[in-house]
Amino acid sequence: MGHEPQQDVTDAFHRLYYDELADQTREHNTWLGVKVWKCPLDMWVYQELLYRVRPDLVVETGTYKGGSAYFMAGIFDLMDHGRILTIDLDEDGDRPRHDRISYVVGSSMDPAVLTRVRAEVARHRTVLVILDSDHRRDHVLAELRAYSGMVTPQSYLIVEDTNINGHPVRAEYGPGPREAVEAFLAETEEFASDPACEKFLLTWNGGGYLRRSPSV
Ligand SMILES: C[S@@+](CC[C@H](N)C(=O)[O-])C[C@H]1O[C@@H](n2cnc3c(N)ncnc32)[C@H](O)[C@@H]1O
Repeated sequence: MGHEPQQDVTDAFHRLYYDELADQTREHNTWLGVKVWKCPLDMWVYQELLYRVRPDLVVETGTYKGGSAYFMAGIFDLMDHGRILTIDLDEDGDRPRHDRISYVVGSSMDPAVLTRVRAEVARHRTVLVILDSDHRRDHVLAELRAYSGMVTPQSYLIVEDTNINGHPVRAEYGPGPREAVEAFLAETEEFASDPACEKFLLTWNGGGYLRRSPSV
């Protein structure tokens, strides 16, 4: 009951930020000059997770311009630890070159891509996965089923953009990441959404910071 006004304010700000003032707030964000499709508050949460979990490898589906991978590579530089494998359908020669980033071109659900990713995962002890490619429900659910097994105990499976389809933005979108997460959590007990990752109230990944249980 006491929580509702806070949620109303947060949702109103979320819609203002994401839907109404997109050109001012989120369309042109860059990290060290590279476009990045993230809410800055979520990027801070990422920084805290990378430091706390200390993954040897981050697997990211959906590279776009490489801004999120470049951001994580910079954090890893400061930690002197960690690599990123990022996958996108599209090739883009302008993506940042960085020793810690490997780019894979292809669909995240292409069997050949999955074979390559699994081989890379097998070489690392601690793995964190971020799903940020095609946001339609069925694709995200397929990714959740294919990639969740790569996440090591107590690490995270982050599902991006659970805010679309009216949660609370882009109401017209249709079933998306939020609906995929709901279906996925109904079929597994190994993952649970971590509310601590939503401490800043505004997040594009509500319910999508999934922590894997300690014992698998
Ligand atoms: C939201 S953007 C990624 C944003 C990026 N992670 C960031 O934070 O800056 C989504 C990307 O997913 C890619 N994509 C769409 N469908 C895909 C698929 N089936 N497999 C891999 N990438 C895909 C698109 O080409 C696009 O670059």
